[in-house]
Amino acid sequence: MPTLKVNFAGLELKNPLIVASSELTDEFDKIKWAEDAGVSAVSTKLAFLKVPFFARPYHIFEEGMGFYSPSGHRLNVEEAQELIRKTKEQTNLVVIANMMGPGEDLEGWARLARMLEEAGADMVELNMSCPNVGLMAKQLNITAPPELGAVLGQNPALAREVCRAVSQSVQIPVMAKMTPEAQTAVVAAACAEGGARAVSAINCPMSLPGVDINNDGKPLYPTTRNQSFAGLCGPWIRPLAFRHVAQIAMRSPDLPIAGGGGIMNWEQTIEMIMYGAKVVTYCTLLFKRGYKIIPRIAKKILHFMEEKGYETVDDFRGCGLKYIVTPEKVEYVYMIPQIDENLCNGCGTCVNLGHCEVMALQDEKAKVVAPTKCYSCAVCYWLCPKKAITMVEPSDPSLKGPYHFWKGGV
Ligand SMILES: Cc1cc2nc3c(=O)[nH]c(=O)nc-3n(C[C@H](O)[C@H](O)[C@H](O)COP(=O)(O)O)c2cc1C
Repeated sequence: MPTLKVNFAGLELKNPLIVASSELTDEFDKIKWAEDAGVSAVSTKLAFLKVPFFARPYHIFEEGMGFYSPSGHRLNVEEAQELIRKTKEQTNLVVIANMMGPGEDLEGWARLARMLEEAGADMVELNMSCPNVGLMAKQLNITAPPELGAVLGQNPALAREVCRAVSQSVQIPVMAKMTPEAQTAVVAAACAEGGARAVSAINCPMSLPGVDINNDGKPLYPTTRNQSFAGLCGPWIRPLAFRHVAQIAMRSPDLPIAGGGGIMNWEQTIEMIMYGAKVVTYCTLLFKRGYKIIPRIAKKILHFMEEKGYETVDDFRGCGLKYIVTPEKVEYVYMIPQIDENLCNGCGTCVNLGHCEVMALQDEKAKVVAPTKCYSCAVCYWLCPKKAITMVEPSDPSLKGPYHFWKGGV
C-alpha cells in the first residue's frame, strides 16, 4: 500500500500538501479549514517585528489564470505568535512561520525567528521573495530600497548571511523562500551554505494587469483608486515555477524543495514532484476552489501511486530531471501530422498557422498537402481543438523535413 508520508527537512508530514503563506493562513478559523481538509502543514501569513505599512488585500483574477496580488494583511510578531500558539494547541498541523526580518539587521532576523520558535513554530520560512516590498522602488530606481523581500532574494551573499544568522539562533529547521526575479539556483545554494535546511520556490513575479481603456487608463481593480505593481500567481506562473524548482534541484540535489506556483490539480502536483519538489504548496487554487479539492488531490495521488507501483513520493521525485539537457543536446525525432478524418471538424485551426503551409482544407477536412515542408514543430497537434492530429514518424524514410541538413551542423 503506498503512503503519502514524507520527511521534509526533518519534519514528519502525513502528506506533501501544504497551504502557502497568504490570506488563507492569517486567521485561525481559516487554518482550521485547512486542517479539516487534510493538508499536513500551513505556512502562516508573513510576520514582521513591526509591519512596515498598512496594506489590505485586493486582487484581479484574469481569465481564471492570472491572480494579481499587490498587497496583503501582514502580521505583527505578537499576532503571529498568537496564531501559531493557537494552531499548535488546537490542531495537529505542522506550522511553518513565514517571516521577514529588518533587512540587513541580522540580529533582527534572528530575534523574530526566535520569537516564532518560542510560540511553537515547527519551521521558519524566511521570506526573501515578496515582490511587494522594496522591489518596485528598486526597479524604478526611486530610492535605495531596503534589503527586504525580493530585493534580498536577488542578493545571494546577504541571503546566505541571513540564513546563517537565523539557523544559528533557532533549533527548528530554516527554509528560505525564493523569488523568480533572481537566479534561484544560485540563491538557493547560498542559503543552503548559510544553514537553510530547505527552500521554497516560487513566490510571485512582479507584474501589472491591464487598464480600463474607456476610463482614462484607470486600474481594473474595483476596490482601489490607483494601484501598485502586483505579485502574479496562479496558472500563468506554473511553467516559471517548474523551471525554478528544476534548476534548484539540478544544482542542489540534496536540498529539500517546497514547490509551488500555479499548481491547480493533482496531475500538476505530481509534475511538480517529478521536477524535484519534496512537498507542494497551494495558494491560488484554494482562493479559487476552496478546500474541498484537497481530499481529492490526496486520493488521486495515492491512486496514481498504486497504479504505477510507487511506494512513496520519493520513488518518483525528480524523475523528470534526467530529460532536461542544454539546447545543443536535444535529440529530435522527425514526425509529421496525421489526421483522423472522423475527428476533424474542418475548423481550419491547423490550416491558418502563420509559420506553416503543410495543411489545407479539402472537402471541409484538414489534409496534409505538403509533408516535405513540415519541420515537425507539432504546433498543429497542440492547437487542434478536436484532438484529431497525432504526430507519427513518416512511412517514407526519405521524408526528413526542411531542416534535416542542420543535423551535425552545416
Ligand atoms: C493574497 C496572497 C498573499 C500572499 N502572501 C504571502 C506571504 O505573506 N508570504 C509569502 O511568502 N508569500 C505570499 N504569497 C505568495 C504565495 O505564498 C505563493 O508563493 C504564490 O501565490 C504562488 O503560488 P500560487 O500560484 O499557488 O498562488 C501570497 C499570495 C497571495 C495570492
